Amino acid sequence: MAKLLVLSAQDVSQVFTVTDALAAVEDAYVQKARGTATAWPMTYAAFDPGVSDMDIRSGDLAGSGLFGLKLTAWFSQNPERGLPDIFGTTLLADDRTGEPMVLLNASAITGLRTGAASALGIRALARSGISVLGVVGMGHQCPYQVACALAAVPTFDRVLLWDPRSAEPRADRAREVAATAHGLLGQAGADRPFTVEAVADGSAAVAAADAVVTVTPATEPVVLDAWVGPGTHLSAVGADMEGKQELEDALVARARVFVDDRTQSVSSGELEVPVRDGAVAPDAIVAELGEVLAGQVAGRTADDEVTVFDTSGIAVQDLAASKVAYDRAVEAGLGTWVEL
Ligand SMILES: NC(=O)c1ccc[n+]([C@@H]2O[C@H](COP(=O)([O-])OP(=O)(O)OC[C@H]3O[C@@H](n4cnc5c(N)ncnc54)[C@H](O)[C@@H]3O)[C@@H](O)[C@H]2O)c1
Repeated sequence: MAKLLVLSAQDVSQVFTVTDALAAVEDAYVQKARGTATAWPMTYAAFDPGVSDMDIRSGDLAGSGLFGLKLTAWFSQNPERGLPDIFGTTLLADDRTGEPMVLLNASAITGLRTGAASALGIRALARSGISVLGVVGMGHQCPYQVACALAAVPTFDRVLLWDPRSAEPRADRAREVAATAHGLLGQAGADRPFTVEAVADGSAAVAAADAVVTVTPATEPVVLDAWVGPGTHLSAVGADMEGKQELEDALVARARVFVDDRTQSVSSGELEVPVRDGAVAPDAIVAELGEVLAGQVAGRTADDEVTVFDTSGIAVQDLAASKVAYDRAVEAGLGTWVEL
């Protein structure tokens, strides 16, 4: 009889921190580069296009002795029913026996593992000594992006936030983002002073930033090539489905480009549209970030280079992060064991 641990969002958020997320995602990327982790092709289905859909991202993490999947279901009309619009659920299984280990609410992990991915891109590819972080998109993911970037890069002390959908600077939202980011950093014992400012002029914010994270569901570029100065790093997070695009083709074409997964980036990530437009060849991707983190490929090669890291999100991030949450929850006696 298999025994499965079930963890709620609250269980997970008690034990899983921003520094855990950075370490787990780095481990997953390095395992992928060394051939002990594989991201299997994503399954996507729209129930009612533009209204409700689901995707399943799965893979194995042999270096950690497990395989598993994350099911993300998006039902946009749920808030009218008093339900969240997104349900994320992760299942891990033992790769020697196939026995299910843990079923957990992925919502407390998704934000941190997504923030950790783009933050690792900044840490590995941006110039050293940088101080200004720009974030394009002020929605749900934004505070996780800020917290992870601040945890990964100790020299950041100023954050500029821009919402392309707002003509006015969203000062109230910036205060919420700052409070949540301080809380996440504090939970990991990594809080420190930094300023967070909402801006209305995206081009000026991008020009002033040393590193930029884009995290919107845009289907037209939100960052234009002309806005980006020499030496800037961009981590593109929002494009995780066919048709989404945040960076102008010409910007991707002139940058040194890294991705989390070559195949997925071209099929449903930030590279999909530039490759389809013929602006970028798939073999223009220099490497997966894990190859840089594992010391197999050089990241930035000059201070004036523009670098791009496209993270469209892969299961091995979730699997590595969920394993850490599982281990911590077992240690702390959290969750509910179920006999299957
Ligand atoms: N790569 C990954 O691993 C990963 C993980 C989670 C979410 N995502 C993606 O990140 C994006 C943002 O997620 P979120 O939960 O923060 O979303 P959200 O809806 O909470 O916030 C989106 C932000 O972008 C702005 N925006 C909305 N539509 C826009 C458009 N067409 N053009 C420009 N700006 C627009 C909104 O005003 C808001 O500031 C989504 O595309 C989501 O699918 C990616």
